[in-house]
Amino acid sequence: MIYTQELVAEVLKIIEERKLSEKEAIKICLNEIDDNSIWNSVHAYVFEIEKRLNLIDFILSSVFRDFNRSNPLFKNLLRVGVYEMHFKGVHPALATDSIVRIVKERFNLKFASLANAVLRKAEKFDYMGKLKKMSKIRRISLEYWHPEWFVKYTLDLLGEDALKLMEANNERQRIYVRVNELKASIEGVRRYLEKFAELEETPLEEVFKIVRYERHPSVLEWHKEGKYVIQDLASCYVAHVLNPQPDEIILDLASAPGLKASHIASMMENRGIIIAVDNSAERLERMKAKMKQLGVKNIIYRLKDGCKIRVGDVDRVLIDPPCSSTGSFRNYPCIKWRFNEELYYKTIKVQRKMLKNAFKNLKSGGIAVYSTCSITFDENEENVMFASEFFKVEEVKPLIGVRGIRNFRGKVFPFWDKVVRTFPHLHDCTGFFISKLKRV
Ligand SMILES: C[S@@+](CC[C@H](N)C(=O)[O-])C[C@H]1O[C@@H](n2cnc3c(N)ncnc32)[C@H](O)[C@@H]1O
Repeated sequence: MIYTQELVAEVLKIIEERKLSEKEAIKICLNEIDDNSIWNSVHAYVFEIEKRLNLIDFILSSVFRDFNRSNPLFKNLLRVGVYEMHFKGVHPALATDSIVRIVKERFNLKFASLANAVLRKAEKFDYMGKLKKMSKIRRISLEYWHPEWFVKYTLDLLGEDALKLMEANNERQRIYVRVNELKASIEGVRRYLEKFAELEETPLEEVFKIVRYERHPSVLEWHKEGKYVIQDLASCYVAHVLNPQPDEIILDLASAPGLKASHIASMMENRGIIIAVDNSAERLERMKAKMKQLGVKNIIYRLKDGCKIRVGDVDRVLIDPPCSSTGSFRNYPCIKWRFNEELYYKTIKVQRKMLKNAFKNLKSGGIAVYSTCSITFDENEENVMFASEFFKVEEVKPLIGVRGIRNFRGKVFPFWDKVVRTFPHLHDCTGFFISKLKRV
């Protein structure tokens, strides 16, 4: 017999150890389980625990000195117990009993009595009282379930709106669906999805917001047939800003898993050429399979470094580089806990090299679109400032979103009224940045 709590702890363990997303880890751990209700329950537990991981860990490390050094499965079982008793409304005695029973089976009696002692202390731990005595940043970090660096950063970037952003990040995930017009009509998909879900229109006619659903759009037949994809609203706006024309040559410098490339292909009616570059063989292979499912036929794949590849003078370039993903915390809460300053600055270097390389590959008069799912100034406005040394910054129409940030920590961005940003708390979608650059 395998318990939900045990499965959840296994999923949390591999998210941490293998740096996977919640969905990837759930797929691996539940591979042999056919029961929909178990999938749904594990999914809900994992997301709810990942969201408030810092607070759960604060409680546990306050009552158990060796918490951070514990065996990974044991540690995650304790997290599940604390989540159940403090945040899920499960009676503390019941929550403790379930975890102790699992620990007894998976470890031994000694570990079971340790789990029992830790969870009994955790039950009585008055974390609210402790929060009141903390410094502002630390308190907000634990109250709003975000890392301290992010609290400091967003308070500087957005003022008190930072709290609204964090609240929005803590809400349930949003689902947007983009019709794949290579395989289906907008009206056809609307009628199909309305049988299973309540839809809302968006400023983009091929994109619907799923307000409520009886069956998740990702498990439906038409999704398997590639008639629509699950893609965030702001992410869908990127291809519109690029505005590819049939018969053009488009270079996509960081292309996998290919959501934007497939949107571009559909706008080009499968004509012209898209050169899809990515430096991950595994992601590029997955992209190829996905593009086949979506009926995309105008892509040439290149397993190369998007910072260096030379293909000649193309009409348009998309630069959608690796980023901090700070705009995607709502859909991927585990990303919140992975920040690493060294990686951050390395990523910014890659972004700048890609911007330079985009310029080199563009024909004169060609257009580049630079987008990220990050909310930071450094990866967005500051990078566009860097790119403005060789590109002309063109205006992006704010069909969705708001204008960019004018200044941040003493740095000024003169092109703030030419770029677009979206925020979870303002636009109910991922935090995105979109800019348009012209080689003159
Ligand atoms: C934000 S994702 C791209 C998402 C994609 N444009 C889409 O819409 O589905 C960034 C991608 O950049 C790739 N990448 C990272 N460094 C790269 C590099 N130096 N050259 C090319 N691709 C790179 C990653 O493997 C990842 O697939």
